[in-house]
Amino acid sequence: MAKPLLFQLPPEVSHDLTLATVKKTPARLLRNFCDDSIADKPATVMGLNFPNPVGLAAGLDKNADYYQSLAALGFGFIEVGTVTPRPQPGNDKPRMFRLKKEKALINRMGFNNKGVDHLVRQISQRKHSGGFDGILGVNIGKNLTTPLSSAHEDYLACMQKVYEHADYITVNISSPNTPGLRDLQLGESLELLLTTLKTAQQELSQQHGRYVPLAVKIAPDMDSEDIKLFADTAKRYEIDGIIAGNTTSSRQAIEESEFASEAGGLSGEPLTHRARQVISLLAQRLHGEIPIVGCGGILGSDDALAHQKAGASLLQVYTGLIYRGPQLINDIRRALST
Ligand SMILES: Cc1cc2nc3c(=O)[nH]c(=O)nc-3n(C[C@H](O)[C@H](O)[C@H](O)COP(=O)(O)O)c2cc1C
Repeated sequence: MAKPLLFQLPPEVSHDLTLATVKKTPARLLRNFCDDSIADKPATVMGLNFPNPVGLAAGLDKNADYYQSLAALGFGFIEVGTVTPRPQPGNDKPRMFRLKKEKALINRMGFNNKGVDHLVRQISQRKHSGGFDGILGVNIGKNLTTPLSSAHEDYLACMQKVYEHADYITVNISSPNTPGLRDLQLGESLELLLTTLKTAQQELSQQHGRYVPLAVKIAPDMDSEDIKLFADTAKRYEIDGIIAGNTTSSRQAIEESEFASEAGGLSGEPLTHRARQVISLLAQRLHGEIPIVGCGGILGSDDALAHQKAGASLLQVYTGLIYRGPQLINDIRRALST
């Protein structure tokens, strides 16, 4: 109901306003948006039990300030972040653009976040406050000012701090808005990153008596050969999950848009087809050895079913939620229900 009003406001203002309102609304009222009559189909993926396969993608709740409230909308899992070791302001505003006709967004937020220590304070409260008992993922990244050659140290620092409180950790090497970040997806940079994080995972799992799976989130802009190379490397390092994927730098699907020349990552409907292609390519190469989280351009239950058919075990939404509201979550849960 609020959409016509919210769409009159600049996208980032309506984003902040919506989240502030959601946080102030009692959970029992938010729960009205969630259809409790749906017989959710649970899923066991990466060794974790998901109450249903529909998740919130990273970037909406970057600082874990809202996940307890958002959980009332019926998500089976929520991914908070991207968080970096130190707080950073992100890019100058405006940095988010609404492409209404195309049911899309372009963003160049640039990992604006309050830093990992704030996020840890937020997520360490969850089990005690009787709040969200679904699966909580934490998406980690590097600070803008950290040189690429020491990027692995930023990821390691975040991983060490969030490990104890996360159900799974996502290594985000695919945002188009941190210069050079996507270079970490291949070659020696990827090997160094994965060696560092898999070694840390082993040590931390012994220290805490709990294995926290590591997922890697990739860009839809890798070509087929690079996707195969990435899949082979992920198998070799026994990565626990692959999220396919992030926003695209391509403007092919929106050439006519007045926003086509804005820098940043494109999400929503123009991404649906490419996201599904990447899921499919990965599935062919992985032979079920690593589960895939399908993300990109899910605006309805048909998109969700098609991503699943292409090979995704779990699904994540972001832009669809902006255009369709919480009804989208019910629609997908219903389509995937038992
Ligand atoms: C405004 C905005 C901010 C985002 N921030 C992040 C982020 O911090 N980390 C990340 O991994 N992905 C981020 N994403 C990407 C989404 O998680 C998702 O991968 C992408 O938007 C494709 O899904 P969608 O078409 O359902 O939106 C962001 C997307 C948007 C629109």
